[in-house]
Amino acid sequence: MIADPHNDALPTKDAAAQEPMAGDLAVWAQDIHKTYRTSSVSTPVLGGVDLAIPAGQCAFLAGPSGSGKTTLLSILGCILSADSGTIRVLGHDLMRLDEDGRIAMRRNHIGFVFQRFHLIRGLTVLDNVCVPLTLRGVPMPQAQERARRLIEAVGLAEKVHAHPRSLSAGQCQRVAIARALVGEPKIILADEPTASLDAANGQEVMALFRKLTAEEGKTAVVVTHDQRIFPFADRVFHLENGHVVQTGQPNALVHV
Ligand SMILES: Nc1ncnc2c1ncn2[C@@H]1O[C@H](COP(=O)(O)OP(=O)(O)OP(=O)(O)O)[C@@H](O)[C@H]1O
Ligand SMILES: [Mg+2]
Repeated sequence: MIADPHNDALPTKDAAAQEPMAGDLAVWAQDIHKTYRTSSVSTPVLGGVDLAIPAGQCAFLAGPSGSGKTTLLSILGCILSADSGTIRVLGHDLMRLDEDGRIAMRRNHIGFVFQRFHLIRGLTVLDNVCVPLTLRGVPMPQAQERARRLIEAVGLAEKVHAHPRSLSAGQCQRVAIARALVGEPKIILADEPTASLDAANGQEVMALFRKLTAEEGKTAVVVTHDQRIFPFADRVFHLENGHVVQTGQPNALVHV
């Protein structure tokens, strides 16, 4: 049953109209369709995706390049809209939110780690990490204190006043992760968060994500190709040709 957060089975289509029990699932999506359209080209990407991710879990989205992982994550993160389907994130019906509602979701509940980092070049590491808090109106001294804590947690204390142009790709990735976590979001959506990290840093970042999910009840959805971090997942969804073709739990779960 879709309402059971511990059941791995994907929801059935005839459950589309059924409401998941409040609080059980952080993400519940049914039959998501998305096609990119320009005046001359249509690129169908998602052709009926179902997802059910219980709160407090770390779920991975895997699949070949071009299979729609970033597209799906962006839809869950209120950055893109689906063409059709039912999507509930933290109990909010995304298909019914207007633009203000989508901005509020992003600002208040979602921490997004972008595949290409999207750091602001003219700002220091500290100021980049403060952005989600200043957007919420958190006073600067408080914002900076929280930002420093996160920057330290990702191992970049000595780079706090550096600019992104002077950082390596792995360091930029860690700044992007600190920025995603600083607002204490209930849901973390991370697009290839370990792609630019070496094995040790990748493991540290995933250990941090697992701590946030297992101990603080947050939910993480992580897009990855990185086989080294698969043991950190509670469940893995494989996306192919616009559908989730396989779902399940990885063989060995890492406990932190
Ligand atoms: N803004 C866009 N306009 C048109 N087509 C797009 C757009 N963004 C993505 N696509 C296309 O949609 C498909 C899915 O792209 P997406 O970025 O979601 O894949 P992905 O699984 O994240 O790939 P990768 O692993 O390479 O990051 C690709 O064919 C891509 O070219
Ligand atoms: Mg991608």
